[in-house]
Amino acid sequence: MIERHCATAEQTRAAGEEFAALLRPGDVVLLSGRLGAGKTTFVQGVARGLGVSERVTSPTFTLVRPHACSNKHGVATLYHADVYRAGSLAEVFDLDLTELIDESAVALVEWGETAAPVFGEVLTVTLTDDDAGGRHLAVAGALVATRAHALTRWAGA
Ligand SMILES: Nc1ncnc2c1ncn2[C@@H]1O[C@H](COP(=O)(O)OP(=O)(O)OP(=O)(O)O)[C@@H](O)[C@H]1O
Ligand SMILES: [Mg+2]
Repeated sequence: MIERHCATAEQTRAAGEEFAALLRPGDVVLLSGRLGAGKTTFVQGVARGLGVSERVTSPTFTLVRPHACSNKHGVATLYHADVYRAGSLAEVFDLDLTELIDESAVALVEWGETAAPVFGEVLTVTLTDDDAGGRHLAVAGALVATRAHALTRWAGA
């Protein structure tokens, strides 16, 4: 189990920032956790790690929002999706995220577990409450095997 504890929102952002370093162009990351678990906070950290300069907030009125990146990982665009309000799997499929991200982008999808069948091999990050107001972050998914070394370091940080 790859887990990291975040006592504060800023630690969740730091976890996202370090997580960005192990992403590769084409990656899809599905985020799950209750309302207010810290999914957007984690994306803000990933955005920081990928060199996004604009502010990252919840993509409320559009299901997906692109952010231009500046980094050395070959990731030019971060697609931030929130499919909480998607009416159906077909609606998520129609976003064509897997088409958008090939070669030079990554996608982070809030409430992504509800749409998992739409995506291929992914990383999943699940946020749960600890008993002191903080969060546990657990990483799983098919891509873990190929990133095991970097993820183990991430978890130990
Ligand atoms: N590790 C943490 N410890 C304590 N508070 C945290 C932690 N991580 C995030 N938070 C706080 O949790 C609140 C909700 O965060 P956020 O908006 O990121 O959640 P979310 O999962 O995206 O919510 P939604 O389901 O509405 O999209 C914010 O006030 C944020 O600062
Ligand atoms: Mg959110």
